Amino acid sequence: MLLSAQRLSKSYILGEETLCVVSGLSLFVARGEFVAIMGTSGSGKSTLMHLFGGLTQPDSGSYSLNGRNMLTLNDTEQSWVRANWIGFVFQTFNLLPELNVVGNVSLPFLYKKLDNKTRDKKVSNAIERVGLAHRKKHRPSELSGGEMQRVAIARALVIEPLLILADEPTGNLDARNSDEILRIFHELNSAGSTIIMVTHDPQVAAVAQKKFQMSGGILNAE
Ligand SMILES: Nc1ncnc2c1ncn2[C@@H]1O[C@H](COP(=O)(O)OP(=O)(O)O)[C@@H](O)[C@H]1O
Ligand SMILES: [Mg+2]
Repeated sequence: MLLSAQRLSKSYILGEETLCVVSGLSLFVARGEFVAIMGTSGSGKSTLMHLFGGLTQPDSGSYSLNGRNMLTLNDTEQSWVRANWIGFVFQTFNLLPELNVVGNVSLPFLYKKLDNKTRDKKVSNAIERVGLAHRKKHRPSELSGGEMQRVAIARALVIEPLLILADEPTGNLDARNSDEILRIFHELNSAGSTIIMVTHDPQVAAVAQKKFQMSGGILNAE
């Protein structure tokens, strides 16, 4: 298994109240799978993606990625895993406005040193894979929403991650741009990428091979 999560739990403490968001959740994802996680707003989908991405630690349970126990890593090892193994795509794109497409897609190499020539080649390839070779010099404000999300996908791809985590990647896009993003994810998955995508939209989830509904802090297969 590429990803193996067993009995994960995560609560938030807010004053007197404890909000149990993830509650004994288990999930196994093999290399090359495309998994969709659906659930209503507030059901804990983003929290789960943060757990999978090593951005937050669970209160209990076990979690391993590529055979590595993710819960015993120190800060340096955690940063290494995020920089080398995981590509994140967010609903709000999270691009840097002052950088053009090439600059944004190059960002992961701040944390992963490579010689300039290899880096530039990887950046060009990633931009080509999302169909933006004709927009390399454009800044985010000069792109459409769909194009911005394609830049974000190229930035996730450029390190050739083991796992792509996409949190509502079509949430801010119209139907036509959503379809384009889903087509790109489908292509990436066909070429071998492992993807976990969160969405509240069953039509979006339909592109994945495995679908789960998140509710009550756990996942139920659809
Ligand atoms: N850092 C936090 N501190 C306290 N509560 C949080 C925090 N992050 C999320 N929550 C709460 O946890 C619940 C699940 O949030 P989230 O994982 O963002 O759900 P979803 O992505 O499915 O909408 C929500 O009720 C939210 O308000
Ligand atoms: Mg969310």
